[in-house]
Amino acid sequence: MTDFYTQGPAIVGVSLVLGVCAYQLISRDKAPRNSQPPGPRGLPFIGSALDVNPADPSSTFVEWERKYGELIRCRHFGRDLFIINSERIAQDLFERRSRIYSDRAGFSALEPYGVLFNVGMVQYGDTWRMHRKLMNGLMRRAAIPNHHDSMTNGARILVSRLKYSPERHLEHYDGYAASSIMHIVYGHDLEKDQEEIVQVLSQTASCFVEKTSDAFVALVNMFPLLKYVPAWFPGGAKFNAAKSRETISSLVSTLYGMLLRQAPEARSSYHVCAAIFVGKVETRSPTYVNADIAVPLAGGLETTSSMLSIFVMAMMLFPEAQKRAQAEIDRVLKGRPPTFEDRSSLPYVEAVMREVMRWGPVVPLGVPHCALEDDVYEGYFIPQGTVLIAHAGSMLRNSVRYPNPEKFYPERFLNEDGSLNNEDMGYVFGFGRRICPGRYLADASVWIAMVSILAELDIKPAVDDDGNELVFKPEWIHALTSRPKPFPCCIFPRI
Ligand code: HEM
Repeated sequence: MTDFYTQGPAIVGVSLVLGVCAYQLISRDKAPRNSQPPGPRGLPFIGSALDVNPADPSSTFVEWERKYGELIRCRHFGRDLFIINSERIAQDLFERRSRIYSDRAGFSALEPYGVLFNVGMVQYGDTWRMHRKLMNGLMRRAAIPNHHDSMTNGARILVSRLKYSPERHLEHYDGYAASSIMHIVYGHDLEKDQEEIVQVLSQTASCFVEKTSDAFVALVNMFPLLKYVPAWFPGGAKFNAAKSRETISSLVSTLYGMLLRQAPEARSSYHVCAAIFVGKVETRSPTYVNADIAVPLAGGLETTSSMLSIFVMAMMLFPEAQKRAQAEIDRVLKGRPPTFEDRSSLPYVEAVMREVMRWGPVVPLGVPHCALEDDVYEGYFIPQGTVLIAHAGSMLRNSVRYPNPEKFYPERFLNEDGSLNNEDMGYVFGFGRRICPGRYLADASVWIAMVSILAELDIKPAVDDDGNELVFKPEWIHALTSRPKPFPCCIFPRI
């Protein structure tokens, strides 16, 4: 039933409409109203799509939570959509019943756009397992310390770039994220080819984020002919499928060529987990390798870089937290540069990192899971094909768990004696078998970048010609990931 919308009938508009009617009749039989969680009623076919704020879906779900509670059901373009606002329910379904809830929503309308090799979108099954096994191996917790030195070095380069050209700070976060992932996953040090790779990567990451947005998927599902809109037509570049495939294959061929060039070197290097992988490159087709080489990069670049820009914005907006973190660093480090060995001695810096993750979540909607079969949970019927969103945006604003949740307040993660409490919000990386495989890498690379920036730089609001601080209100770009709109700020060496 899931594929009914997105495969054959999606090509012919009339069949789509008929299919939708049939689906609604069938699903009504299977899911009697009285066994559904509460939620907005919505309109025929589009369901509640028009009630969701397209610029910030998470804010709508937060409002709905106040009205309907922790588990909400709505219809969305002919499908059942469940929004889960509690960690307990997400764990019950995605972890305790992971056999049922580890699939992804059918994205087959995106097939022509060349983005479906992304392991994050692959349906649950053998192909997904194979890619996932490789990624878990490369980025497992125990493998990350092997890369601490290179990350520390990368963070120092980031700081020097921020000193040299602070006005390009957003680009520098991309460069840092790309170089740490390139080193870890592929054993490649980004130096000479940095600009080329970062540029291709950023384009690919934007392409993924744009194509996987809810609105884009709904539009191409409804109007499959959009994929043929010429790229030169106003707005056409976004929908033109050939253009999208071109962007993706440019990344893949750049990385594939690079991997082949350095394969012999990589095999002899101890720390290159990628050696195992590179050994396979020569025997596997470029298409097959796509998933392994492009995905960690595109996914990891966008998220890591977004989190660093949120951190810098938060430090600009909340100078007290910045000063307190710097005071802790000065006390512990006494002027020397930070290393990973210092992490456990810097609880306030850790609390700042957690508060950044909570206050400005990078993936507030998670990545939707999909039910592989009919299920019943706490008396509610969940039909096969239901799309389920574990809405971290609501969990992170739970006022019982995080009193006064709108406030940026790192102290909420500290015990009275100043040590860290147990609230580590691991759920921002998702749930169950689909949990983010890059979480340990992200945690380490963001931490060393943050602490290095705090140790050496001051972050303040931008000023006008007369030296007055500009009034600043954060604005966000919400797609699959969330990040601040480009913002000016003053970054300069601490004195
Ligand atoms: C701040 C950083 C990051 C955050 C907040 C984040 C968050 C997430 C979330 C919420 C999911 C969906 C989990 C689910 O379906 O339940 C996910 C999936 C994924 N993430 Fe991350 N992520 C981050 C960094 C990274 C990095 C650095 C990489 C790789 C280098 C990465 C690679 C992936 C991949 C490949 C998936 C898809 C997994 C699958 O579908 O099996 N992420 N991430």
